[in-house]
Amino acid sequence: MIRSSGKYLASLRWIRLSVLASLVLLLVGCRGTPSEKPPIHLNPNMDNQPKVKAQSESHFFADGQSMRTPPENTVARGELREDARLYQGRDANGDFVTASPLPATPVSLERGRERFGIYCSPCHGAQGDGTGAITRYKYPIPPTSLYEPRVAAMSDGEIYTIISDGIRNMPSYKAQIPVVDRWHIVNYVRELQRQGPPDSTQMISAAQ
Ligand code: HEC
Repeated sequence: MIRSSGKYLASLRWIRLSVLASLVLLLVGCRGTPSEKPPIHLNPNMDNQPKVKAQSESHFFADGQSMRTPPENTVARGELREDARLYQGRDANGDFVTASPLPATPVSLERGRERFGIYCSPCHGAQGDGTGAITRYKYPIPPTSLYEPRVAAMSDGEIYTIISDGIRNMPSYKAQIPVVDRWHIVNYVRELQRQGPPDSTQMISAAQ
């Protein structure tokens, strides 16, 4: 009796072991043989989602396109850009606005300084004098010093437009910099120009 119960326990142990082994095999998703099929997916979770990807084909819409054209005469929410001064930097006559529609508050100047450091300083230099890091890498032409009298004489709307659309060898930054940030940068450029180029500041502080 004792012997047979020992045997019984031993076979129970074997059953447990083999169940455990097959569970482990199942968990690692191994079929035991090479297969062309996708791996066994025990927990599909949200890996396969019914959705359309940009530019993909659609079997739902009659024209076979998954990307839809907005209905005519409609504007997406938050995309109504009626304020030409803010969005185009131009007044009702289509001329550049002379002054930024955003007041140059300390908060605006600080935001402008930060954004200028990110988007403009690689080319124009942290002080805007045209000595950014890019000058070491054979950029087609050296970036303009923002202290040049020609730039200083520009209206705020013109500088806003240069940031938005780029100019000659300078690329457009409208995709990277939101409208309001562009105006903060304009305010900051104005502040830089008011303070004068870094060399003259150094000269002033050296003279003092
Ligand atoms: C990739 C380099 C690069 C970046 C980044 C860049 N600029 Fe420029 N920028 C230039 C170059 C180059 C010129 C001179 C273009 C020319 O005359 O061909 C220029 C010219 C200008 C001018 C003078 C335009 C004129 O009529 O001479 C202004 C103003 C200006 N940039 C402002 C900015 C501001 C503000 C930023 C940041 C939002 C910025 N730039 C970012 C390269 C750059």
